[in-house]
Amino acid sequence: MQPILSAENIHIKLGGQEIVKGVSLSVEQREIKVLIGPSGAGKSTFLQSLNFLVLPEQGSVSLEGHPVNPENKKELYAHRQQVGMIFQDFNLFDHLTALDNTAVGLIRVKGLKKKQARERGMAELARVGLEKQAGQYPAELSGGQKQRVSIARSLTMDPKVMLLDEPTSALDPELIGGVHGVIKDLAEAGMTMLIVTHQLYFASSLANEIVFMENGKILEQGQPEKILNQAEHARTREFCSKITKMGTSG
Ligand SMILES: Nc1ncnc2c1ncn2[C@@H]1O[C@H](COP(=O)(O)OP(=O)(O)OP(=O)(O)O)[C@@H](O)[C@H]1O
Ligand SMILES: [Mg+2]
Repeated sequence: MQPILSAENIHIKLGGQEIVKGVSLSVEQREIKVLIGPSGAGKSTFLQSLNFLVLPEQGSVSLEGHPVNPENKKELYAHRQQVGMIFQDFNLFDHLTALDNTAVGLIRVKGLKKKQARERGMAELARVGLEKQAGQYPAELSGGQKQRVSIARSLTMDPKVMLLDEPTSALDPELIGGVHGVIKDLAEAGMTMLIVTHQLYFASSLANEIVFMENGKILEQGQPEKILNQAEHARTREFCSKITKMGTSG
């Protein structure tokens, strides 16, 4: 099967240092891949390069088999609409309500009229369980609710794949479940996702594959049971046992 999104031999330099050193990874339709690895491994940098928020020095990113040229603005914007990105810190506009945060892209990017944009925005807010909070501003929402607004906003663009970078790491433990519930619903609805998370219980219940990245490279990848319980590399085993013990969020 042809992957929805694939990265081939991505190299990224930042501040004169090579941060990502030849990573290739692809996600097929309806597949959920989870990326784990120590702090500084280059997970966020790599994820951002898939949307060209960071430009690779070398390598290519393809959507449905077509390599994307980020220098072509039209192609770049089309790509970004189809590849949704969810950040750790939500990235909402403080001066807009939950509904307007959700609908803003439909108006600015897709050119919808305000009324239609708000209707679609409401539908996506309902999908993440936030109909009642539509009129509230980010300051009046919990972290978990903010993250769900950010997911609703991303869904309005009808993405073909979603990239989530530690979507629950900024949340209090009791708020994590609600966001995980929304991500699980998306998975059940057939959304293709690449997720950076250290919530191993969540990852193992959802992922088709777990990818372990260290020092800018993929060290090992495989089915969750294998990576979490019988990894080949000592480094992978050590890392998994450490984060299981710490019960880290993210
Ligand atoms: N703009 C930048 N300039 C220079 N170095 C950077 C820049 N952004 C990130 N780095 C470095 O790149 C390395 C990888 O960072 P990255 O955020 O991708 O790691 P990560 O795997 O996501 O870590 P974490 O688990 O802590 O989120 C780090 O050593 C970081 O200091
Ligand atoms: Mg990161």
